Amino acid sequence: MSAVIEIAGLRKTFHTLRQGRRIAVDGFDMLVEAGQVHGFLGPNGSGKTTTLRALLGLVRPDAGRMRVLGAESPEHLPDVAGRVGAIVESPQFFANFTAHRTLRLLALAGGVPTARVDEVLEQVGLRDRGDERVKGYSLGMKQRLAVASALLKSPELLILDEPANGLDPAGIREMRDLTRSLAEAGVTVLLSSHILAEIQLICDHVTIVSRGRRVAYGPVEEVLAGFDQHQWRVRVADPEQAGQLLGRAGLSVTVAPDHLVVTGVQDPETISRTLGEQGMWVRELVPLRPDLESVFLELTGDHEHVAVPRQVDGAPPNDGVIDLDVRESREVDA
Ligand SMILES: Nc1ncnc2c1ncn2[C@@H]1O[C@H](COP(=O)(O)OP(=O)(O)OP(=O)(O)O)[C@@H](O)[C@H]1O
Ligand SMILES: [Mg+2]
Repeated sequence: MSAVIEIAGLRKTFHTLRQGRRIAVDGFDMLVEAGQVHGFLGPNGSGKTTTLRALLGLVRPDAGRMRVLGAESPEHLPDVAGRVGAIVESPQFFANFTAHRTLRLLALAGGVPTARVDEVLEQVGLRDRGDERVKGYSLGMKQRLAVASALLKSPELLILDEPANGLDPAGIREMRDLTRSLAEAGVTVLLSSHILAEIQLICDHVTIVSRGRRVAYGPVEEVLAGFDQHQWRVRVADPEQAGQLLGRAGLSVTVAPDHLVVTGVQDPETISRTLGEQGMWVRELVPLRPDLESVFLELTGDHEHVAVPRQVDGAPPNDGVIDLDVRESREVDA
């Protein structure tokens, strides 16, 4: 697998009159390999957009090394710019232009055959509305137009900062199908989103950022597995009694009014056998697997955690420990 995006030790501090210095990105690392659909997750203000802007040469970082399609960023970005499509924050379009005219101008400016305009309008589901002025567009339609503009160049790498922003459920699904079909066609996709269920559906890899630092990364399944407590929800006629039986058998059990949760059991046969041998029959036995939302909240919450991040082979080195120390009032290096 070849690296498409490599970021090591990225750091960006903003200076504002009111707030003074603020660290937006703080020693951030990321690796996106060819063919991945890579989710970029983090709470509001955790540094996602700043990272993408730095990667694309839109903001100057204080420190760090970045490469896009093998080219050092920002120095050699022009060499690969034609192979990268990106939307970072909602792009502005001329309100009085139609989508068709907007894309035609962008195609002409970018040296792209204008035949692509109809193709990308079709791809984002705007074909029937392409002759309307952008000022009459809804938020979701503008978002689709933005994605269409990023697709004009038939990019090898597509970077989308919150593409689902403002989309209705049907639009979100269409964006998911579009992302999948692009991935099947070999396009590498990096997308940030707050819709975690969506990320879990689309992405095969993920990077989670908290306060400007990477706190977890790797294949989605591996990141989730790292948080699997091997819990099972068990329904029986008498949860109280079943809880006592399982507890006596040495299992860790929490009893709720209508079910039990057993923690730390690899094979659920242990549960059903223990209960069955005492004449208690299991009505339901369901694995409780962590989802991206619970992992995200655990990793990016305000409490301290120590966990081992999942690592992709060949990932850039990191310190090996998830660092989540709370640093609200941290000193800033000049
Ligand atoms: N131009 C700027 N000037 C000053 N501070 C900025 C600037 N851009 C970003 N920041 C600050 O940097 C931090 C990271 O912001 P950023 O926009 O990268 O977060 P984000 O992860 O994209 O958040 P969101 O999920 O809300 O889009 C925030 O504290 C933000 O206030
Ligand atoms: Mg952002």
